[in-house]
Order: sequence, then structure tokens, then C-alpha cells
Amino acid sequence: MKTSNSKPGAINSVIKSKKKQMQLTLKIWRQASGSRQGKFENYSIVANKHMSFLEMLDVLNQELIETGKDPVAFEHDCREGICGACSMVINGRPHGPLNGTTACQVHMRFFNDGDTITIEPWRAVSFPVVKDLVVDRSSFDRIIQAGGYISVNTGQAPDGNAIPIEKGEASKSMDAAACIGCGACVAACPNASAMLFVSAKVSHLSLLPQGEVEDERRVASMVNQMDKEGFGNCSNVGACEAECPKEISMTNIARLNRQYMFASLTGE
Ligand code: SF4
Ligand code: FES
Repeated sequence: MKTSNSKPGAINSVIKSKKKQMQLTLKIWRQASGSRQGKFENYSIVANKHMSFLEMLDVLNQELIETGKDPVAFEHDCREGICGACSMVINGRPHGPLNGTTACQVHMRFFNDGDTITIEPWRAVSFPVVKDLVVDRSSFDRIIQAGGYISVNTGQAPDGNAIPIEKGEASKSMDAAACIGCGACVAACPNASAMLFVSAKVSHLSLLPQGEVEDERRVASMVNQMDKEGFGNCSNVGACEAECPKEISMTNIARLNRQYMFASLTGE
């Protein structure tokens, strides 16, 4: 009796597990190094719909390694939407099909069995390709080094709590601080502008009293470094805000422009 009762359940679980499987074609940008020419290559893969996008790439890489082929280079660290490392364009959208979501937080259930998925690196002069999907984003680091910090001594945690900050300003600062420096804004922008990133960094510091004192020096240094790195100008397209996984608002760009104009007038 036990055996005959268990059969339908076993068949159901086989059917269910089969339905979790998806047959996909991946069209991936392969480029051995920045100095070599790249091209798309196609791979067939069976993925589980509960996998994350990066787990699906892990499976592909395991298969490539086992067959003696070069695995696809891609960046990742936290896999929790925090670090901004998982930079890749999925089906033409930086970080993939979901709004306000990093590539590492996209799951395969958002794709369909039989899909062809195109995966390529950020495309911007200031983000040169290192290998495959990995680009060099050190231009962002140099912008931060130019002024994205508070150089005054802000004391210990209790000192921070001792300075009253109006709730609205604190919230705007926290919203801007959500920027994870991923570079999707640059990848989405037809001008490859870094204005959303720079404005988020400028805003999150300048909206707080501890950062306000260095406003003019900071904005002038960061914008000058941004220009030196070869990022394009902002022409209010809005693709940066639409594709930002942390939904950073373009109002930060307006704040940056105001601050930069004031810094220019005061000779910074
Ligand atoms: S503004 Fe958004 S898209 Fe640009 S670097 Fe920050 S988190 Fe990434
Ligand atoms: S791996 Fe850290 S945000 Fe995606």
C-alpha cells in the first residue's frame, strides 16, 4: 500500500522539479583583455528558476571549467545588493529587467524557459573593459579621493547624536548615501555621464552639518576630477535615475549644479 500511495507524489515531485528547470541560451560578451577585440558567444545552459542570476553564471562557469574552457569573468562580492560590484548589462538594461534591483538580486524566475539572454559589460570610455564582463571602475575611486569625504574631526558617535539635524535633511542625506557606486547610471546614460553618482556623493555629505563646511571645495574638486576622467555631460535624459538600482533621485544633480555654480562664483 505504501508503495502505491507514494507513486503519485513521486511523479508529482518529478514533474515539479522538471518545471523548475529552464533551458536558456546565453549570449555573452567575451573579451580576453582591454587591448583585444571582443565578441558575443552563445552558450546553452539548463538553469533552475530559483537560482539567482549570478548562481546561473556560476553553473555556466563550472561547466566551462569542467570542459577545459575559459570561465566568464564577472565581478561580484556581497550578492546582497550592497557592494555594487555585479556590474553587467542584461538584455540591454544595466543590472537587468527589474527596477531598483542589482544584478545579484535578480532571480531566474523573472525569465522564461527558452529565453535568449544577452549579457555584456558597462559600455563607457571611463570604464575600460578588463576582461569579459569586468570593467575598471577606478575612475569612481579617484573622484571620491578628490573630495568625497569629511576631513574635519567629527568626534565619536555620541558627538554625532549631539548635533540636531532636521528630519527632512537627514532623510535626503540617507537616500543619497544609498548609492553603491555601481556605475549603472553611467552605463545607462547616452553621454556616459557620472553626474548621478557624483551628485549622490556630494549630497549625502553636504546635507549634514559635518559635511556642509567643505561644500564648495568638495563639489569643485569632485566635478573637476569627473571631467578629467572623461565622463560625459548631463543632458537631463533621466536614464540614470530610471536604471539606478538604489533609485537615487535626479534632484541630487540639481543640488550639485547649484553647489558647483556657487563654488565657481566664490572662486573654488
Ligand atoms: S547613482 Fe545609482 S546607478 Fe549610479 S553608481 Fe550610485 S547606485 Fe549605481
Ligand atoms: S554583488 Fe554586491 S551588489 Fe551585487
